[in-house]
Formats: sequence, C-alpha cells, structure tokens
Amino acid sequence: MDRTLVIVKPDAVQRGLVGELISRLEHRGLQIAALKLMRIDEQTANTHYGEHVGKPFFAGLVSFITSAPVVVAVFEGPNAQAIVRKSMGVTNPVNAEPGTIRGDLAVDLGRNVIHGSDSPESAEREIGIFFQPEEIISYSRDVQRWIVE
Ligand code: RTP
Ligand code: MG
Repeated sequence: MDRTLVIVKPDAVQRGLVGELISRLEHRGLQIAALKLMRIDEQTANTHYGEHVGKPFFAGLVSFITSAPVVVAVFEGPNAQAIVRKSMGVTNPVNAEPGTIRGDLAVDLGRNVIHGSDSPESAEREIGIFFQPEEIISYSRDVQRWIVE
C-alpha cells in the first residue's frame, strides 16, 4: 500500500487545527499508519528540507518549522502521496482552491499549515526521517471495502 508523510505545521498546531487537518485526510479515505506530536530539531529540519538549502527562504523555513511542536503522520492508501497533495492545495494559499486545506485555512506562503511529501520517492525518504519502522503500523479496516473497490 502507498504511504506518505504529513506534517501538521507549527502554525496549525498553535491554531488548534490538528484535528481538522487529520480529519480531512481521514474523511478522504486515507488510513493513519503512524502519528505523533514532536518538536523538530534543527538537524532534522535541515535534512527534511535539504532540497531547499541555499534558497533565500531556507533559514526562515527552518526557523519556522522548529519554532513550536508539530504533528507528524504517515497516511496510507492507494496513491496516498498524490491524494494528500491534492487535498492540501498548492504551496501558496493565495492560489489554493477553496475546498483544499490551504485554500480554506491559510492565507500566507510562510504559514501554509501542512506539509505533504511531493513524490513517492520523497515520501519514502521523509517517512524514514521521522519514524522508526516499528512505529508504522499495518492493520486492516472492515470499512476499506467501502472506500476502495
Ligand atoms: P511543503 O514542502 O512545506 O509541504 O510545501 P510544498 O512542497 O508545497 O512547497 P516547497 O516548494 O517544498 O516549499 C517548502 C515550504 O517553503 C516555503 N516557501 N517559501 N518564499 C518562498 O518563495 C517560498 N517558497 C516556499 C513554504 O512555506 C513551503 O511550504
Ligand atoms: Mg515540499
């Protein structure tokens, strides 16, 4: 089954949106495989956002993501990575469609409430940064036959 990493960013935790964000992805039909509250340290932030090293917004991005607790999750389901990205909406909330998480709950590029892996390869790499294999739980749900044909 496909898996992807989600981070409920510090702004969303501070705003009390943890349940709302997790709920939207659960209601879409994805299954929680791992979930925890944590404070991201600088080294982990540098690793996670390695693709952005050297960009003008990098320092601010690391400072923001380490500034307060986040909730990290692994979501599972067919095409999990693409499904989460579509539900999130585009990076800049100004352009995010209403109905998406960013389009409904955010207005600013630097406070866009959620992270989702941008490819299956990124998902595998990012899940490995935040979770030990034994923290990721596979289980079956009876409802699954009502979600996937
Ligand atoms: P994320 O990694 O956080 O899920 O967001 P994303 O894939 O939609 O966007 P990405 O290009 O990976 O950028 C990571 C985060 O950096 C901030 N950003 N600022 N000032 C800028 O030009 C700029 N570009 C990106 C955003 O907060 C974005 O979520
Ligand atoms: Mg990204």
